[in-house]
Amino acid sequence: MDVLMRRDLIIDWVETAAQEIKTQMSNDLEVESKSNRKDLVTKLDKATETFFRKQINHYFPGEGILGEEGMGETVENLTGPVWIIDPIDGTANFVLQHNHFAIMIAFYEDGLGQIGVIYDVMADELFVGIKGQGVTWNGHTWQPPFTDKPLDQGLLAVNGSLLMANRWQVQELIDQAMGLRIYGSAGLEFLAVAKGELLAYISPNLKPWDIAAGAVICEELGIKLSQFDGSAIDYLAANPIILAYPKSHQKIRHHYDSNK
Ligand code: IPD
Ligand code: CA
Ligand code: CA
Repeated sequence: MDVLMRRDLIIDWVETAAQEIKTQMSNDLEVESKSNRKDLVTKLDKATETFFRKQINHYFPGEGILGEEGMGETVENLTGPVWIIDPIDGTANFVLQHNHFAIMIAFYEDGLGQIGVIYDVMADELFVGIKGQGVTWNGHTWQPPFTDKPLDQGLLAVNGSLLMANRWQVQELIDQAMGLRIYGSAGLEFLAVAKGELLAYISPNLKPWDIAAGAVICEELGIKLSQFDGSAIDYLAANPIILAYPKSHQKIRHHYDSNK
């Protein structure tokens, strides 16, 4: 099946899942903690991942699936077709705000991102990136209003734990930007960079499903994504990431190298 047919199926699944989430959101979410008391999962995270897995297994039997909630088989390597799913990104926002969360699905082949979809559910904003074919925002071709900007001309998002611990003097770096923003959803932070609302997003411990869809979208727009040390993302591990327009990326990389 070609990439556009896959894209259309993904959009259909995401819209169906979002409708279900909105309908069920005011019921008991059956919230549980995972690795620590702030790392939450709800019955809708699990049900949404299960729904996507069923669709993928139906249309694409045998293709690999890497999902945050591990509601089925996982992958050991990235050879061949692999789907990477974060059923609800920003679960703490979802539970505590009923807002500011996203559904993310990516399709990779031999480790290379082919399709990335992020849906900001409550804002009804759907971003789709296809390798080599650009990005759409609610079906319209999207290009940010600029291709590059230095860090002192815009806003920066930094993960809260990195900021609080002031690791590698990150507060000094923040001071060089026009201001700091923290959204609580990696997916929405990737989208804010893609929109040009942020110049950069820095986070110390993102999992493959936090990154995979946004990587396809942002890289299509010429935005740079790397680990803190400049190396490529490892889609089978946790990664410290810098996502930024090229000049801002260079500035952040240099600051990290000088302060790590
Ligand atoms: C989390 C959010 C958060 C980021 C964490 C992620 P989840 O995803 O994207 O903003 O700081 O690293 O794990 O658990 O809500 O899907
Ligand atoms: Ca999640
Ligand atoms: Ca996530």
